[in-house]
Parts: sequence; structure tokens; C-alpha cells
Amino acid sequence: MPIQIIREDITKLRCDAIVNAANNSLLGGGGVDGAIHRAAGKGLLLECMKLKGCKTGQAKITGAYKLPCKYVIHTVGPVWRGGTNGEKELLESCYRESLQLAKEYECESVAFPLISSGVYGYPKDQALRVAIDVISAFLLENDMLVYVVIFDKAAYKISEKLFADIKEYIDDHYVETHTDAHFERMRGEQCSQILEAEEVCFETTFLDEPVTQQVEPVKELSLAMPKQVAKFSLEDKLGEIDESFSEMLLRKIDEKGMTDSECYKKANVDRKLFSKIRNNVHYSPSKTTAIAFAIALELNLEETKDMLMKAGFALSHSNKFDLIIEYFIQSGNYNIFEINEALFMFDQSLLGM
Ligand code: APR
Repeated sequence: MPIQIIREDITKLRCDAIVNAANNSLLGGGGVDGAIHRAAGKGLLLECMKLKGCKTGQAKITGAYKLPCKYVIHTVGPVWRGGTNGEKELLESCYRESLQLAKEYECESVAFPLISSGVYGYPKDQALRVAIDVISAFLLENDMLVYVVIFDKAAYKISEKLFADIKEYIDDHYVETHTDAHFERMRGEQCSQILEAEEVCFETTFLDEPVTQQVEPVKELSLAMPKQVAKFSLEDKLGEIDESFSEMLLRKIDEKGMTDSECYKKANVDRKLFSKIRNNVHYSPSKTTAIAFAIALELNLEETKDMLMKAGFALSHSNKFDLIIEYFIQSGNYNIFEINEALFMFDQSLLGM
């Protein structure tokens, strides 16, 4: 998944470059800036001193010193002043300039904090949307793995109503399934008890008066129907093999009038993985990848279940992640950003953006 939203301390990431939300002096500060300088050690500060500062919306690159990554890209986000002073454009520029530098230095992976969303006061949910929009646009033309590192939940603010609706959906279905499962187990036990009881008092059930002596349990019920003799060849069975996941995916892309790249970009699946799926009719993807394609194709619930089944998966009602996906499909909401907001709020792993 080219974009991944993760909850992590950015100073721990082993990607090629991490981005620092710095200030114009580039001489360190609090927040993520302070964390990066502390983890990198003095060498970083000494190199930064040679850069002679950085303008807001611009980016500069240094080594990483004691950090596990290769480079640190320092960018200076705008201070939030109500949103009418070009803050959005400056913040977009931070991401664009940093991605450009990462590309120039042939980074295959880069991690961003939510620039300006701490000390500089940019509303976190808006800061996240800017980040995702600019990164997604960049990834339409470039191959890179981009992490958006969320340090606290405030970045996601799904509406109270949406949260309540999803919670209700999970409670209803989650309980239902557990009851079902419990019921199945009980039914199984009851059935075997009834069967035993029937075996012992098989005669009783059909006699007027109760039978006093113990009757021999019925050994086996001889059914009138002759045993069905299986009459099919292996070729017949192989001929019944259903359309594969890959075949269904390509069929659906055509039916939706999408191009391959539109679909895998929207599903946030990288080009290499997509070509593996396209070139191997029996390729079986991960469940998350299969779901991401179903969302990108905006399949209804039945089609989604069908596509998942072809990959060997099912939407399970005893799995919150699946129930949240089902909730959004049932509501016809395929906005992967909102789906991730909900998944994040329910502490579930996220679909690639
Ligand atoms: N890993 C990942 N994210 C982090 C970390 C960390 N270790 N520490 C903080 N963050 C997150 C914050 O939760 C926030 O969402 O980074 C985001 C950016 O917050 P700040 O670091 O406060 O950066 P910013 O809002 O851009 O303000 C920049 O703060 O630290 C000073 O010198 C810096 O003056 C500059 C100003």
C-alpha cells in the first residue's frame, strides 16, 4: 500500500527519510523537532547550522546521524491563523517540496509527521487531509512508500453521529453472530442429547404408554433411500472451478469503465503487486488488498463477499474491522479516507489510503 497511516514515534522508523516539522531557524525546538534532534544527536544540529535556515513551505535535507533512517528532510509548516492567510497552500508546499527532495535522493520510503498540527495549531483533521491529498497526487505519478505518522488520535475526528452509528452496527451484528455461534454450539449439543434420548426411548416416542424397561439404543437408522453413488469425474469438477479473484477483478475494472491504474491507485495498491495479480490468474491476495479493491470498485456487499470468497476470505461478523467495512459498504460510502477515520477510531488497522 503506497500510503500507510501508522501510529508510531517517527524517530524509530527505519525508512529512507523522515520529515521534521521544523521552524525557520532549523536549530531545533519542541515537538517532533525536539524528538528528532534528541535521537539524532549533536551532528544533526551542526549540519543544520550550515543550512542557514529554511523558509516556510520550503524543505532542506541532511544526514540522519544516530537515527535509524538515512536522511532527515526539514520543512517548515505555516502557523495556523484561522485558515485565511494561505496556510493550506503553504502546508501543501511542505509536503510537495519534501516529496520532491525524497525523490531527488532516490528514497523508496519516507515518513511524515502531521506538519503544523502541533505547536503551530493547524487543526489535525484538516492537516491530515492536506497530507493525504498532496501525497496521493504525488503517488499518481511516482512510486514511493509514504508513511503518515499519527502521534495521537486527535488527528481523526469522525462525527459523533457516525461513531455512534458504527458502534450500534457493531454491537447489533457482533452480538448476533456470537449468539449464532453460541446457538450453533448449543444446538449441536442439544441435537446429540436429543439423538441419545431418541436412541434410548426411540420406541417410547411412538408408543402410547411409557416403556418401563431399558430399550436397546437404535444402532443405526436404515434409510430407505439407496446411497447416492458419486458420479462425476475430476475433469467435471475442475471444469466447475469458478472465476478466480484475478479474473473477477479484471472483469469488474472493465465493467466499471476504469483503467487498471485508476483502480489500483484508488485501492492504494502498488503497480508491482497489481501486475502480479493481473499476470497470475490464480493469485490470491491478502484480505486487506481484496477489500481495498472492492472499495475502489465500489462493489455492493454481495459482490464484495463474492470477490473476497474468490480470494479465500469472508467478511466475519466476529471481526470489528470487517463489520466496519460492511457498515460503509451497506451505507454506500466508499470514501476510503472516512473508512480509515472510523477504523482508526475503533483501533483497527487501516486500509491503505
Ligand atoms: N513522532 C511522530 N509524530 C510526533 C512526534 C513523534 N515523536 N512528536 C510529536 N509528533 C506530532 C505531534 O503530535 C503533531 O501531530 O507531530 C505533529 C507536529 O507537531 P509539532 O512537532 O508541534 O510541529 P508543528 O506543529 O509543525 O510546530 C513546529 O514546533 O517543535 C517546534 O521547532 C518546532 O517551532 C517548531 C514548531
